[in-house]
Formats: sequence, C-alpha cells, structure tokens
Amino acid sequence: MRQDPGDRIRPARKAVIFNMIVRKYRSEDLSEILKLFYDTVHSVCKADYTLAQLDAWAPAAPDTERWRASLEKHYALVALADGAIAGFGDIDETGYLDRLYVHKDRIRRGVGGALLTKLENAFPVTEITTHASITAKPFFEAKGYVAIREQQVERRGVTMTNFVMKKSLEPLIY
Ligand SMILES: CC(C)(COP(=O)(O)OP(=O)(O)OC[C@H]1O[C@@H](n2cnc3c(N)ncnc32)[C@H](O)[C@@H]1OP(=O)(O)O)[C@@H](O)C(=O)NCCC(=O)NCCS
Repeated sequence: MRQDPGDRIRPARKAVIFNMIVRKYRSEDLSEILKLFYDTVHSVCKADYTLAQLDAWAPAAPDTERWRASLEKHYALVALADGAIAGFGDIDETGYLDRLYVHKDRIRRGVGGALLTKLENAFPVTEITTHASITAKPFFEAKGYVAIREQQVERRGVTMTNFVMKKSLEPLIY
C-alpha cells in the first residue's frame, strides 16, 4: 500500500553540482552502483512505497551477475562528483531507458538531468520509453515525458505501481 501522500517530503532544489563529470560505465563501478541503488531506493523512494516493496525492488542481496550483464549490454553512464559516483543510468538501443538513480545525498542537484540528456542522445531513436517510479514521475514530467498509463508490476512476488512514460525526440542526423 502506498503511504499517505501527506507524508511525502519533496526534496527542495539545491545548488547544481558544477564539478560533475559523466562517463561510460566501467565494470569496476558495479559495487558502488549497487550500494547507491540500494541506498537511494530505501531512502529517496520510501515515502512512495512500502518497506516490502522497497525490499523487493532493491533487495539487500542483489543478483550481481544479472546487473553486470545488463549494464554491459546497455549504454550505461555514471556521473562522478568529488571522486564518487553521484548517479548512474542506462538505456538500450530501442530507446528504453532502463535505470536512472541519483545518490541519496545528491538529489535535486542536476545529476539526473545531466545523465538523462546524454542517455536520450545515445541512440538514433525518435522516442524514449521508461517505466517511472511514483518518486521519479515529477522529474520525468519536468523533462518532457508524458505518462501513458499507470501499471502494477511484480518484483519478487510483490506488486507495486509505476508509470509507462514516453518522450518524443527530434530526429537526429548521424
Ligand atoms: C528521479 C531522479 C533520477 C532525478 O534526479 P535528480 O538529480 O534528483 O534530478 P535533477 O536535479 O536533475 O532535476 C531536474 C528537474 O526535474 C524536476 N524534479 C526533479 N525531482 C523532482 C521532484 N521530486 N519533484 C518535482 N520535480 C522534480 C525539477 O524540475 C528539476 O529541476 P529544478 O531542480 O531546477 O527545479 C532522482 O530523484 C532519483 O534517483 N530518484 C529515486 C530513484 C528513482 O525513482 N529512479 C527512477 C527509477 S524509474
């Protein structure tokens, strides 16, 4: 069950991180990414999902090999600030944006937006699709995405809500 929206505390806008760089994902980033993913889901998303849902989405013991294979198969980027990973995301060649997660202490500082812009331009597609969490929906709306439908998805036997969201892009000439 979702918590009362009145419990939700929206993160306020903070100063953009100017010393951030974005680069391709490397295999040695995996353990830091997995920690970031767990911490972000269990803190940033906790106003929107129950503990059971958070645990199903980001279990304490992730399937490391599955993560490794999908990040290597997709176009995956990390954002770095002060020598640490501030966020990561990945997209496949069809324009399906699979993941986008920002470090819990770096939220609302431009990291997600910087990653998203580069991911959207990784492949010559005219539409990006993502399955956005309740938490991420306002971010994607601010970036020009439209919610096509709300859906219930199952993760490790637990049902949770997300949104199929799409954005049309201008065709690029390569
Ligand atoms: C969604 C997420 C990736 C956004 O990254 P971010 O670095 O915090 O976002 P940015 O700072 O680049 O935000 C860009 C703009 O999006 C909008 N935005 C971002 N978060 C918002 C929020 N919580 N509410 C309303 N608008 C928001 C704002 O317009 C913002 O610009 P502004 O700060 O100048 O007003 C990040 O919040 C996150 O990791 N969330 C939890 C994990 C998650 O749900 N990931 C998606 C899985 S589908």
